[in-house]
Amino acid sequence: MHILVTGGAGYIGSHTVVSLIEEGHSVVVVDNLSNSQLSALDSVKKITGKDIPFYHVDVTVESELEKVFQAHSFDGLIHFAGLKAVGESVEKPLAYYYNNLVSTMVLAKLAQAYGVNRFVFSSSATVYGDNQVPFHEGLDLLPTTNPYGETKAMSERILSDAAKANPNFAVSILRYFNPVGAHESGLIGESPNGIPNNLMPFVTQVAKGKLKQLRVFGNDYDTVDGTGVRDYIHVVDLAEGHVAALNHLTEGAHIFNLGTGKGTSVLELVEAFEKANEIEVPYEIVDRRPGDIASCYAEASKAKKELGWTAKKGIVEMCRDSWKFEKNFQG
Ligand code: NAD
Ligand code: UFG
Repeated sequence: MHILVTGGAGYIGSHTVVSLIEEGHSVVVVDNLSNSQLSALDSVKKITGKDIPFYHVDVTVESELEKVFQAHSFDGLIHFAGLKAVGESVEKPLAYYYNNLVSTMVLAKLAQAYGVNRFVFSSSATVYGDNQVPFHEGLDLLPTTNPYGETKAMSERILSDAAKANPNFAVSILRYFNPVGAHESGLIGESPNGIPNNLMPFVTQVAKGKLKQLRVFGNDYDTVDGTGVRDYIHVVDLAEGHVAALNHLTEGAHIFNLGTGKGTSVLELVEAFEKANEIEVPYEIVDRRPGDIASCYAEASKAKKELGWTAKKGIVEMCRDSWKFEKNFQG
């Protein structure tokens, strides 16, 4: 299939472009490079041997995006483009609502106008809010604690309604848990601007000596050791989940968790990282981070049953590949 990937220069997008090409699909990337570099696509070329047609376009600008639809005949699309920093979304709600909602609406409108009926969307486990774990797709969504999460919940509703109104439209809504790791080549991975918000990039930067020590946000949660529990998923597994979703699209909107189903605490992750890479990660326990929940992990059986997909890589590979990328990364 010929696939449009929005946000394809970013972390999850670039890994998914690799998986799509490995599965024999052809890919066109659209990205405004607001949180990525074009060099990621040079690295994708090194891995796959394929040139990736690229358009430096903002997905919210309909007239620009339409030119891409005019130049290609797509069979489907994967929509990664979006802003994703939870804390920043609280400070700049309008930027988040505008970027994440307008991009989804413009893309859905053009997809329908040009008869591109396969639509895969990046959602997030954050839409579950503080529900009872494990989170399964049938749960009523609880309010999220930040505008970013709201943009994901609203985008899900917009796409579901669009699918209800158009019987040809097939939408897969993928709720990711916590993506970590990097391609085994070490050529692509996560390189956040500034000081990382997320645990794994913080850990790798402490290991590299770029940051002094990890701050563990709270050890008084009702979890195995008091620290927050999350469902970490290797980004290459996640990328393969997108290919499976694309291959199994059927009319209507369908929601899938993409997680491993296994929870890991902050301290368990730090210990696994130290062991896998034989390197120390100094840490201190500090107060809870506002807005955090104690536990978040998936009930992952629906994707296995309906998409034939399960995550294969464990926490050791996640830690090893994250570190391999960080060591290579000149940033
Ligand atoms: P990322 O920032 O690395 O990638 C997003 C890409 O979209 C970037 O390359 C950015 O430049 C681009 N972009 C943003 N707004 C755009 C616009 N208006 N037009 C064109 N390009 C635009 O983030 P990621 O981790 O790869 O996340 C991809 C998607 O998955 C996002 O929608 C994110 O919300 C979602 N998601 C991420 C996580 C996570 O923890 N990484 C978890 C759940 C969901
Ligand atoms: N944590 C620390 N120290 C840090 C960073 C994080 O102790 O420096 C802890 C957090 O308190 C939490 C765990 O590590 O218990 C994971 O935190 P992350 O910031 O890595 O991830 P979150 O689960 O908070 O959120 C991430 C993405 C969201 C996404 C969600 C989906 O940032 O966008 O996963 O589950 F919605």
